[in-house]
Amino acid sequence: MSDMAVTRELFDQVMVPNYAPSQSIPVRGLGARVWDQQDKEFIDFAGGIAVNCLGHCHPALVNALKEQGEKLWHLSNVWTNEPALRLGKKLVDATFAERVYFCNSGAEANEAALKLARRYAIEHFNAEKTQIIAFKQGFHGRTFFTVTVGGQAAYSDGFGPKPADVDHVPYNDLEALKAMISDRTCAVVMEPLQGEGGIISPEPGFVKAVRELCDQHNALLVFDEVQTGVGRTGALYAYMETGVTPDILTSAKALGGGFPIGAMLTRADIAASLKPGTHGSTYGGNPLACAVAEAAFDTVNTPDVLAGVKEREGWYREELEKINAKYGCFSEVRGKGLLLGCVLNEQFAGRAKDFLQASSEEGLMVLVAGANVVRFAPSLVITREEVLEGLARFERAVARVVNG
Ligand SMILES: Cc1ncc(COP(=O)(O)O)c(C=O)c1O
Repeated sequence: MSDMAVTRELFDQVMVPNYAPSQSIPVRGLGARVWDQQDKEFIDFAGGIAVNCLGHCHPALVNALKEQGEKLWHLSNVWTNEPALRLGKKLVDATFAERVYFCNSGAEANEAALKLARRYAIEHFNAEKTQIIAFKQGFHGRTFFTVTVGGQAAYSDGFGPKPADVDHVPYNDLEALKAMISDRTCAVVMEPLQGEGGIISPEPGFVKAVRELCDQHNALLVFDEVQTGVGRTGALYAYMETGVTPDILTSAKALGGGFPIGAMLTRADIAASLKPGTHGSTYGGNPLACAVAEAAFDTVNTPDVLAGVKEREGWYREELEKINAKYGCFSEVRGKGLLLGCVLNEQFAGRAKDFLQASSEEGLMVLVAGANVVRFAPSLVITREEVLEGLARFERAVARVVNG
């Protein structure tokens, strides 16, 4: 087995073709740097899609993994475990939430949130209160329920009948939401900053107005903070800087710093609707995942790291402005903290993937968010040297695209 030739061709031979990964196969990482099989070095501004909040192989996470790896890996929820309870307590202490449910991914956290919202409404109001309202261009995962709630029909079409009673309105369109919401609405689901949809911030007052409409109609407000959570925007959770408290919040991605884990956070009165046997997951709250997540949480949830995210946003914005002054390809740089999007102007519309490809050739990992936005979601503790080196590579990539 060990001398098997592992090449990109092998992917096409053995893997389901739902992904189209890059040709280069990374084999190790340290901080914000990654090396591939040929020892080509990359600076990582992608962070495993906003997951690696402490970069690669952060010592706190490696230590937690090793320590727990020699103690106890898995039990199932027939037994509880210390790392899960410690992490749960820390999440409760740090947020609005009073109860936590653990699972393994963002989609699963949202699946739990959606089921809970439905169950709560049926229990506390009536069996007709099942409508879920979400936003166009939103993204909530790929299970059939979450992808249906996500706002891109292209992702949910083609799989037969969809879960029913899910409606969408445009993000930042309060009038459309007003027209759609009623006492039949059990939940409004939103990202406090749309990630996959193109790094779109709520307009001032929008989130508060959504909260008020939910209150008028006894609908739960669900914040999907899978991408924005755990320090990404410079607050522990983005809701903390909106002046609005959700009823349910979902977290994943950065929560485990690279180890798969998801969580749904809520109040005790709402949580009570998920009685024993109503929902579950074999791996949810797995000790190994929770031990790593606890170490990630302890490291990120400090004034230094959170303020550092805002400082780093400044470094990015300053350099990106200089690049744009030279090449004139972005209409704006938007987003918050270390979830940033360079929006391509008309001349380069639809070409985000070309920028990604050129970046990769220059030794830089970036993401796209739709066809028009180049997205950065780097480590929250990326060094200034790594940011500047990465952006120097990005400038060379931009020059390549602009100069054809
Ligand atoms: C806001 C949001 N919700 C949910 C998900 C789905 O998370 P996962 O891929 O872990 O299921 C994502 C993933 O990109 C996301 O950005």
